[in-house]
Amino acid sequence: MCGIFGYIGKRDALPFIVEGLKKLEYRGYDSAGVATLKDARLFLQKCQGKIADLERLLLRKPIDGNIGIGHTRWATHGKPSDENSHPHSDCSEKIAVVHNGIIENYLHLRRELAERGHRFSSVTDTEVIAHLIEEELNIKGTDLEHAVSRALKKLHGSFALAILYEGEKDKIVVARRGSPLIVGVAENETFVSSDIPAILKYTSRVIYLKDNEIAIITQDDISLKNLDGDTVKKEISFISWDPESAEKGGYTHFMLKEIHEQPKAIRDTIKDRIKLDSCQVHFDELNLTEEEIRNINRVVFTACGTSWHAGLAGEYIMEKFVNIPTEVEYAAEFRYRNPIIDENTLVIAITQSGETADTLGAVLEAKSQNAKVISICNVVGSSIARDSHGVIYTCAGPEIGVASTKAFTTQLAVIYLLCLHMGQVRGIINRNEAEEMIKELMAIPQKIEDLLQSEDEVAQIAEKYFHANNALFLGRGKGFPIALEGALKLKEISYIHAEGYPAAEMKHGPIALIDKNMPVVVLALLGRRYEKILGNIEEVNARGGNVIAIATKGDNEIKEKAQDVIYIPPTSSDLSTILAVIPLQLFAYYIAVKRGCHVDQPRNLAKSVTVE
Ligand code: M6R
Repeated sequence: MCGIFGYIGKRDALPFIVEGLKKLEYRGYDSAGVATLKDARLFLQKCQGKIADLERLLLRKPIDGNIGIGHTRWATHGKPSDENSHPHSDCSEKIAVVHNGIIENYLHLRRELAERGHRFSSVTDTEVIAHLIEEELNIKGTDLEHAVSRALKKLHGSFALAILYEGEKDKIVVARRGSPLIVGVAENETFVSSDIPAILKYTSRVIYLKDNEIAIITQDDISLKNLDGDTVKKEISFISWDPESAEKGGYTHFMLKEIHEQPKAIRDTIKDRIKLDSCQVHFDELNLTEEEIRNINRVVFTACGTSWHAGLAGEYIMEKFVNIPTEVEYAAEFRYRNPIIDENTLVIAITQSGETADTLGAVLEAKSQNAKVISICNVVGSSIARDSHGVIYTCAGPEIGVASTKAFTTQLAVIYLLCLHMGQVRGIINRNEAEEMIKELMAIPQKIEDLLQSEDEVAQIAEKYFHANNALFLGRGKGFPIALEGALKLKEISYIHAEGYPAAEMKHGPIALIDKNMPVVVLALLGRRYEKILGNIEEVNARGGNVIAIATKGDNEIKEKAQDVIYIPPTSSDLSTILAVIPLQLFAYYIAVKRGCHVDQPRNLAKSVTVE
């Protein structure tokens, strides 16, 4: 949801900002803008469209300076337009503000400001911030940081902000509450960014701003304060991600690169956590004692989107291996539902970004009711990781494609390891079983590599179905979350309407949709539910539908029942989710490419949803 990038140093700020915004474009891409300070004057350019449109504008109307801020927008208040693009200014046009988040009381503030004579040029919530700062600066003796802190005290809602002011030519003031913002510390220059990948090329040293903190960044110094003006200790963290991991590395799209990175991502996620000699699992920052694990009487997975699907898959194995009643809740529902939880409930929040507003809200709600909260998260130091009692990081590296792929499969791997650990602690899984489970998990990366060999076949199948307007995805048991995930992948990047269903539910309604134009993807893996799934396939065939089966290698029978078959290597049913989703990721990808869709930045979406 919107990307912010800022630069202060000795060099020209603009190339850094434009490059940074390109890296953040996955967060929002309906309009963009920049502001710089030079010779104590503020320069500002902005327009509707992508960063490429902004670049064209800047060629016609260049601006420069060693200090600047930029923004790429995902509209919340006001449609995408030149006027609603950031940065926003005050009446005197001396202040530039870029914002990510939502100011909930903006209408009230706007009314008051208008009554006091302020003129507005946009319909955004953000613009009130510029005018509030303007009023504070009009009070004699107030400098920018004090004006900002006073203005921020009047805001309800969430924000990450970067602010320039013509009256203070050597300063960027940034602040956050609820929306992410980091400060990248390099030699003689400082960067501000909504996310890590955009600054990786320049530095690995970052300061994570906490809620209600302000950073005052000048050419020579970075200082942190709270809203009362007290100095806050600066903590510099080191990012271990490789700068190359934020580049496309020869692939046409980040999504394709990230699909191919899954064997490595899973190896990196599991390798240091498995003790082969004792067949045990260890997590550094889980912060959950064996006694606490034994006392848990209920588990709640909570998440959004793809991460929610990982939770749904987790429910099956948590109940099987750990024998604890388990639920899966959409984070936005959980947080406002008055959930009945207590200190013996383990809430597991799953999130790639660690910044999803609904999931963060669910974590805070669970903590307020004394539940133990751990998160499964891909971004070290992110808000959800910090706000949980314990965290298990997925080591997927930066995921830049809006459609989640490697984050999902690494989440599944972590959930499997967590269940193994908890099952052992509770005496449900014995050593031999643990050994077998570990062996199966460690074989998964190689099996994904084998599976990726059939990429061309998946692309050919996609070619047959790319004209479809609707698609159905069916699965039973652990195939059900994968059916949901396959449908989500297809709809979000190809805009084909797709539904995921438990296969048995088809006959209770969706069967009415089936005809010769309707591809039906069926998770038909060998195992306990195989015969039942074959029955569902027959039902689709009897109504003229086209079945694409995801089947277990070696199953020849399925070829007679499905129009197309994609095989995955055999594995335990508990790990089949990781393998089965990969052809569905590729299927969605190739259909989207064939339809000419913008795979990495699908319309209306943003990578990290930091608003409710
Ligand atoms: O960063 P998170 O995992 O918390 O994000 C949750 C969802 O917004 C995310 O999974 C979304 O559904 C993806 N676009 C799916 O591909």
